[in-house]
Amino acid sequence: MAELGYDGRVAIITGAGGGLGREHALLLASRGAQVVVNDLGGSVDGTGGSEGPAHTTAKEIEDLGGVAVADTHSVSTPEGGEAIVQTAIDAFGRVDVVINNAGILRDKTFHNMTADLLEPVIDVHLKGAFYVTRPAWLKMREQSYGRVLNTSSNSGLLGNFGQTNYAAAKMGLVGFTRVLAAEGAKYNIKANAIAPVARTRMTEDLLGKMADRLDPALVSPIAAWLCHEDCPVTGEVYSAAGGRIARFFVGLTEGYYNPKLTLEDVRDHFDDIRNESGYIVPPNPGGEFAQLMKHFSS
Ligand code: NAI
Repeated sequence: MAELGYDGRVAIITGAGGGLGREHALLLASRGAQVVVNDLGGSVDGTGGSEGPAHTTAKEIEDLGGVAVADTHSVSTPEGGEAIVQTAIDAFGRVDVVINNAGILRDKTFHNMTADLLEPVIDVHLKGAFYVTRPAWLKMREQSYGRVLNTSSNSGLLGNFGQTNYAAAKMGLVGFTRVLAAEGAKYNIKANAIAPVARTRMTEDLLGKMADRLDPALVSPIAAWLCHEDCPVTGEVYSAAGGRIARFFVGLTEGYYNPKLTLEDVRDHFDDIRNESGYIVPPNPGGEFAQLMKHFSS
């Protein structure tokens, strides 16, 4: 089988000055994509900023024979998002791929969670994805082609102690991805998400002995595949860690139906309600209604 390539495609990768974003950028550029390497260059908690990381990754790509341009705007404002997309248009004339990867952490248990810990995290991860994707989306609709990849996390999908702010943002990105998939379908725009686990500056103190096995470069193949022209899926979420790729999905149990439902019925049938055998994976709200209609018509 031929190798996968991205010739003629322009990819914006946010937060690509280091960690996972840098690996995504190196892989896509090595396969022919023209890459906008965006990074604000701040610390893990989002304070500060430096032009260095974005330029370093862009130079690394060029030194390897690839094509890249650095961009140091923040994703977390509408103006920043517009400017990042404009960088792609000015340098390469189009945008085909957006990988929303920029991220920060401000962990605290919920009873200590304050607005200054919540708002910047939502701004970068969740609003940042809106602000960068929307101006790119308008171009993608016009050209009837686009690939969007959002970076979620098992912290949001499964819940991780001390990360209410981050988890809410990361699960918010799943809803964002699902709606983009629905709205993009008719324009050949696909939107998916990954939930990575990798050794980066964000996680190096948390992963313990597993860290050696969790090379961030092992996340990039699924990221790149979901951004490829041949990507067969949209609206899906993939776990990626140390070379193992798997799919997360939202399931709905068969449940319990009683048109005369009472409070006590819920108590008495709670095991049936929770029973996972025979669950379905509805593709959209219509899938849930279809399950309901079976009961209504019986
Ligand atoms: P990282 O800290 O190396 O990379 C994040 C990058 O985003 C940094 O280079 C940072 O400067 C940049 N950034 C932060 N705020 C920005 C802003 N406002 N505008 C532009 N760039 C900004 O960490 P890592 O691990 O590579 O994280 C990448 C993404 O993967 C993040 O969204 C993170 O939440 C997510 N993730 C990572 C996991 C891991 O195990 N490393 C686990 C789950 C999710």
